[in-house]
Amino acid sequence: MPTEIKANCSDPILADEEDSGIDNESGASSTQSLTESILQHVYENGRRYHAKSVGRYHMPSDEKEQDRLDLHHHNILQLLGGRLTMAPFEHDPNMVLDCGTGTGIWALDFADCYPASTVVGIDLAPIQPNYVYPNVKFELDDLEMDWTFNYQFDLIHSRNMATSIKNWPRYFEQMYDFANAGGYVELTEHDMNAFRCDDGTMPEDSAYGRWLKPTTAAMKKAGLSPYQTLKDYTTLLEDAGFEIVQTLEYKVPCGGWPKGKKEKYLGFCWAEDLKTGFESYSKALLVNGGGLAPQEADDLIAECLKTLAERKQHVYYYTWHIVARKPL
Ligand SMILES: C[S@@+](CC[C@H](N)C(=O)[O-])C[C@H]1O[C@@H](n2cnc3c(N)ncnc32)[C@H](O)[C@@H]1O
Repeated sequence: MPTEIKANCSDPILADEEDSGIDNESGASSTQSLTESILQHVYENGRRYHAKSVGRYHMPSDEKEQDRLDLHHHNILQLLGGRLTMAPFEHDPNMVLDCGTGTGIWALDFADCYPASTVVGIDLAPIQPNYVYPNVKFELDDLEMDWTFNYQFDLIHSRNMATSIKNWPRYFEQMYDFANAGGYVELTEHDMNAFRCDDGTMPEDSAYGRWLKPTTAAMKKAGLSPYQTLKDYTTLLEDAGFEIVQTLEYKVPCGGWPKGKKEKYLGFCWAEDLKTGFESYSKALLVNGGGLAPQEADDLIAECLKTLAERKQHVYYYTWHIVARKPL
C-alpha cells in the first residue's frame, strides 16, 4: 500500500527566529582551498591519477574509476538490504563523517535520507560534485594526518579504505577521539587474502590467485595491510576503545555463476565492478612495486577478466561490515 503523500500548501512556513543568517560551516580548520595543484592529474598505465595522491594512494581517479565507485555503492547496498547504515540509532545522527568519500555517493544518499544530519565527506582527491545538498560538505584532506575538526561525530563511515590507510591503529584512535560518546563507527572492507571456492572448480593455478599474490605483496610493500582479517579489524577497533555491536560477513560471487536470481544478480553486479576493478586495484602496484612490465600486468589482468567472463570457476570472496560504538 503506497504511503499517502500530503502537500503542505495549507500551512504557513514558520520563520526560524534563532536563524543567525550565517551558513553552517563544517569547521575543519585544515580544509584546503582548491588551488590549481590540487586539481592536477598525472597519466600513467592508460589511466588518470590525482597528482597530489601519488605516493599516498595507488588507484586512479578518472571517470572510469568514478563510475566503478558508484557501481560499488550499489553493490554494497545489495548486500546490506538497501540500507545505508546498520547502526541502531535511537535518534537520527547529528554530525556524520564519511572517510575517503570518493565520489561522495554514500554521503549524498545519507544526507538525502536523513535531512536533519550534516554529512562531511573527506577525500584526498577532488572527485565530488561541486553543488550539493545544504547538509553535505566535501573537504579535501589527508585522513592519515592529525584530524582537526571542531566538533564530534555521531556516525563515522569508512568504506573500502584498505587500499588507502597505512596506520590503522592511528586511524581508529582518531575516530575514537572524534566520536561522541554513544556514537557509531561503521566499516565495510573486503578480504584481500584469498579468492575462495567451495566446489573445486577453481584450479590451483587460477588467474585469480596468480593475480592476487603479486598484488597483495606489492600492497604490503607499499605499507598497506592486505592480509588483515575480520578479526584483525574488530581487535583494532576494540584496542582503540570501541565496543563491537555487529559484524556481518558476506560471500561475494565473482561473476554471474551462482544459482538463484538474487545470487546471480549479485554475481553480475560484482563482475561489472571487477571489469575495471582488477586494473584499478592493481595496475600501478604491479608495475611500480611488483616489478612486472606493463604488458605482463595487462596480460595477467586480461586472464582474470577472461576467467570472470567464462563463469566456469565458482569463485567468491568475503566482504565484511562492522558496526562499533564508543561507550557512553
Ligand atoms: C576505494 S575508494 C573508496 C571510496 C568510498 N569510500 C566508497 O566506498 O565509495 C578510496 C578513496 O579514499 C581516498 N583516500 C585515499 N587515501 C586517503 C587519505 N589518506 N585521506 C583521505 N582520503 C583518502 C581516495 O582518494 C579514494 O577516493
